[in-house]
Amino acid sequence: MNIRDFLTSKVQQAMLASGVPFQHQPLVAPSRKAGFGDYQANGAMGAAKAMGTNPRELAQKILEQLELQGIAEKLEVAGPGFINIHLDKAWLGEQLAQAQQDPRLGIAPVAQPDTLVVDYSGPNLAKEMHVGHLRSTIIGDALARLLAFQGHNVIRQNHVGDWGTQFGMLIAELEEQLGAEREASLALQDLEAFYQQAKQHFDRDPEFANKAREYVVKLQSGDPAVLDLWREFTRISLTHSTEIYEQLNVLLTDADVRGESAYNDDLAPLVAELEQKGLAVEDQGAKVVFLEELADKDGNPSPVLIQKHDGGYLYATTDLAALRYRAQTLGARRILYFIDARQSLHMQQVFTLARIAKLVPDDVSLEHHAFGTMMGADGKPFKTRTGGTVKLAQLLDEAVQRATALVAEKNPDLSTEERADIGRKVGLGAVKYADLSKTRTHDYVFNWDTMLSFEGNTAPYLQYAYTRVQSIFRRADTDPNTLEGAIFLDSEAEHALALKLLQMSEVLDQMARDAFPHLLCNYLYDVASLYMRFYEACPVLRSDVSPELRTSRLRLCHLVARTLATGLDLLGIEVMERM
Ligand code: ARG
Repeated sequence: MNIRDFLTSKVQQAMLASGVPFQHQPLVAPSRKAGFGDYQANGAMGAAKAMGTNPRELAQKILEQLELQGIAEKLEVAGPGFINIHLDKAWLGEQLAQAQQDPRLGIAPVAQPDTLVVDYSGPNLAKEMHVGHLRSTIIGDALARLLAFQGHNVIRQNHVGDWGTQFGMLIAELEEQLGAEREASLALQDLEAFYQQAKQHFDRDPEFANKAREYVVKLQSGDPAVLDLWREFTRISLTHSTEIYEQLNVLLTDADVRGESAYNDDLAPLVAELEQKGLAVEDQGAKVVFLEELADKDGNPSPVLIQKHDGGYLYATTDLAALRYRAQTLGARRILYFIDARQSLHMQQVFTLARIAKLVPDDVSLEHHAFGTMMGADGKPFKTRTGGTVKLAQLLDEAVQRATALVAEKNPDLSTEERADIGRKVGLGAVKYADLSKTRTHDYVFNWDTMLSFEGNTAPYLQYAYTRVQSIFRRADTDPNTLEGAIFLDSEAEHALALKLLQMSEVLDQMARDAFPHLLCNYLYDVASLYMRFYEACPVLRSDVSPELRTSRLRLCHLVARTLATGLDLLGIEVMERM
């Protein structure tokens, strides 16, 4: 249990013992100002108001019932009825000492692990991955990593777009190019160019266009030869995505792919079921569900098209089938979608319909964690100079190139291999962190200079902070894993750093709940900043520092390094020993 939850339960007990009705919350939070203790309980004021008593007197009564012997060294009522909790330094030191030895940094796994599905990335296999896929891929991956760290059974689902009419055109083109003795992997080396070729071919050659349409029908009816071509196409396209995942240090593998086509056989029965349940109705030859639940302000229900008049199914139909599979077959208790905010209505419709059609049990949590758009310097969606979409592979290469040049400039003594390795970690880390550190729901402006800066809330700053801490152990010629002895927190800088280090699990719990990675980014930035302050104020290796104090401070340093490395790892960002 984290400190905040622990104190909350203690204050709750004290409130009950003071006659406060149970519905009043203790409202424990870290204190915002120095001098007001480490945590504050702010619940007495609201409770007193409801009970018609004096808030300071009630706070005093609660304080007297608070059982925090050995944990808090001072409790006081402040202002209109805050309870300030000053934690005991020896107790804090013990918590830190335990955390420093613990591979999990003292963060216990959740008491009740659940099966959770995280839906992220989901590129369309007809095309190459572009910058529009970046946010879903990295934010979703951070959450998948965190939830697994917490001990949950996380099932990643890469809902790739691998079905639809455009594949008729693409495989017809592939067949022709293969007939001209090109290898499939060669023909599809540049998916974007291939798509353009197919499109032009389609527009200029009516015979080819007919064949493409025919192939759509053959694909849908399961023609073996056409299916083989489709399989070849999607297989190769997927290897492009897999390369990006590997480069990006994203966990997704081929085993996580369950694309739209995986649900083909479920769609007809699903539509039939929705008709049987009286939800889907025929409308101009198509099948539609009209959702009263999402009616507009004039009372018009929100229409969800689930089958077109020509028999084809839609994005929503597939998502409904996927939702049922995830809840019923995979047994997910929470299903988290990381998809662009522009698909909010779609997700709302799918969730609402799934609920009323009882495709998922009522207590399964369905969550669309939407995000804004990545913008260019001009405040418009990020594009190439000529206005085209930016390929993800190119963007990542540029990040690595820029970072490598920067690293070489800062440290000319690095070997070629070291420079390449550091450049890669810094470049990709910068791109990922720039995204993760912004409030997810907002648009954000992509800017090379700020993301690659070694100052401010950036990946390079945190990676550099990590190397600085690590250099202490080299200078001290000590293996920090073998350090033993008490941790002393007598100075203000040590105390502030210590408290921050012990708050990681609070931050992780909140991030897991709200799916906001920027909370962890801000936390890591705070840790690094408090470390810098500590480092200025508290000498570690100086000769006048006693051996006990030196050990204490080295242990604190070690926990800082491990907190930074663990936090960055949960964000999918690598650290290095020097840079
Ligand atoms: N393929 C979709 C797109 O590119 C994203 C898929 C998201 N996941 C889902 N279950 N709909 O927009």
